[in-house]
Amino acid sequence: MIELMNVTKTFTTGKKTVEALKDVSLRIKKGEIYGVIGFSGAGKSTLIRCTNLLERPTEGEVLIDGVDLTKLKKGQLRKERSKIGMIFQHFNLLSTATVYENVARPLKLSKVPKHEINERVEKYLKIVGLEEKQHVYPAQLSGGQKQRVAIARALAQEPEVLLSDEATSALDPNTTSSILELLLRVNKELGITIFLITHELDVIQRICDRVGVMHQGELVEEGSVIDVFTKPQHPQTKDFVFDDANFKVPDSIKKGLSATGRIISLTFIGSSSSEPFLAAITKKYEVVPSILAGGIDQLKANSVGKLLIHLQGDTAEVEKAISYLEEREITVEEVAS
Ligand SMILES: Nc1ncnc2c1ncn2[C@@H]1O[C@H](COP(=O)(O)OP(=O)(O)OP(=O)(O)O)[C@@H](O)[C@H]1O
Ligand SMILES: [Mg+2]
Repeated sequence: MIELMNVTKTFTTGKKTVEALKDVSLRIKKGEIYGVIGFSGAGKSTLIRCTNLLERPTEGEVLIDGVDLTKLKKGQLRKERSKIGMIFQHFNLLSTATVYENVARPLKLSKVPKHEINERVEKYLKIVGLEEKQHVYPAQLSGGQKQRVAIARALAQEPEVLLSDEATSALDPNTTSSILELLLRVNKELGITIFLITHELDVIQRICDRVGVMHQGELVEEGSVIDVFTKPQHPQTKDFVFDDANFKVPDSIKKGLSATGRIISLTFIGSSSSEPFLAAITKKYEVVPSILAGGIDQLKANSVGKLLIHLQGDTAEVEKAISYLEEREITVEEVAS
């Protein structure tokens, strides 16, 4: 569906050049929700803007349904682009136009017949739950409602793909949830492929099927959300996954722990969270686990439990206990010794 092949983007301002994207390749399947996460400046917006050629890649190919957008003439590009809708962090609504007009305007510009514009505006405002607000102006709407208008505007063009650049970053947690629910529904009921970028792990966890991690212009890790979340490989990914206040052990606590043993984090998927594996290792080996922190995260397809423990005991016994856990598909990470 969407294929980025060896995409590089270099910005030059005066004497300075910035390599915003370095040889990025990724493939998004039809009907999938694919998220890219990265810190500020990682190149996320550049990546998504290269996907619809709002930004032209310096090198590489951008294929939508097998058609390389970088090779198209203006007219053809406009046609291919109509398959791609986009939403933004700050909604980008016209403040001087009503909700109805905001959704209708791009349709007028692409010369959709009048009666059909009417039908589509009504249909998509209904889908986003704003049919009552047709005649108000953006200033009279909440942030979440503005984003719903922007989503209706994108959907009204009946795209195959929806690109989202931090669509929930300006919203409070409850409103974020309702917009994420809406995106899930749009994906499921209308079959629209979604490619989103975010700096919030929560957004990835809740709605994405697969995730890519960007760091300094490179895609450093990629995989199903559950794999990346439970077995992060790259240090940057680990930073996201363990960037939880609970998983940083205060020095005062560290000092109080016995010097023999290790502090480890355990990550386990779904049902294995209910197995008494801590009890099992205390019985089998000469180790004493103490729980420092824990929690369960709900992903789109599964739940993931995390525990931070101090495992007291001789090196050899601790090693054996860790092997036992790993054999049970529990991911063990050393946090600090
Ligand atoms: N038009 C531009 N001209 C020059 N440099 C740019 C331009 N757009 C982006 N950059 C640079 O490219 C790099 C990546 O920027 P980008 O906006 O893609 O990051 P981002 O991951 O979206 O960050 P954020 O989370 O802050 O939105 C940054 O160093 C940025 O300064
Ligand atoms: Mg950005």
